[in-house]
Amino acid sequence: MLRTADPLRAPWPPPEVGPEVVGADDLRTRVAELGAEITRDYAAHPPLLVGVLKGAMVFMSDLSRSIDLAVDMDFMAVSSYGSATQTSGVVRIVKDLDADLAARHVLVVEDIIDSGLTLSYLRRYLSARRPASLEVCALLVKEGEQRVALELRYIGFTIPPDFVVGYGLDVGERYRNLRAVHVYAPPTTRQEEDRSP
Ligand code: IMP
Ligand code: MG
Repeated sequence: MLRTADPLRAPWPPPEVGPEVVGADDLRTRVAELGAEITRDYAAHPPLLVGVLKGAMVFMSDLSRSIDLAVDMDFMAVSSYGSATQTSGVVRIVKDLDADLAARHVLVVEDIIDSGLTLSYLRRYLSARRPASLEVCALLVKEGEQRVALELRYIGFTIPPDFVVGYGLDVGERYRNLRAVHVYAPPTTRQEEDRSP
């Protein structure tokens, strides 16, 4: 068994993981609220939840268990071309859906909306498959960053436009397993902050 005091074990979370933006308790409470709302809204026609991998996996897992309806689940994996921390809006479908969307009530489950370009691409792509309805549930929306108009039926939290990790969100595939959402503060940012008066 690993001992907490093991000097060979790296500190967790490491220093580049900054303060919490949304804590685990707030996530739990809000996800339960969203689930209750979706349960009410979709009582007559249970939705097909479409999770956008990989970021939405943790949220989708908790959200789906807060919905008391016979939901179906499917996943897509997309990758956006661009730098590590910014999207270009050009999206590549890495894994397509298995389900046929015709006549389904589709609820897209997204981790975070930054520029909104990924979602607006996805919306066009999914609409073309003629679902009965298409709505979006986004856990996080970055304040004032959207470059396109988005209709988001459900929003978990609106957060400042910093890069964040945890609760499914990564940087280079890491930190998805943090229980809360944290600001990501890589060493250069921290040094700059340390130098400032
Ligand atoms: P958008 O196309 O600019 O809205 O970016 C959306 C996608 O970029 C999300 O689905 C995430 O995968 C990723 N992303 C945007 N902001 C963050 C962040 O702060 N942390 C981790 N991933 C992010
Ligand atoms: Mg990502």
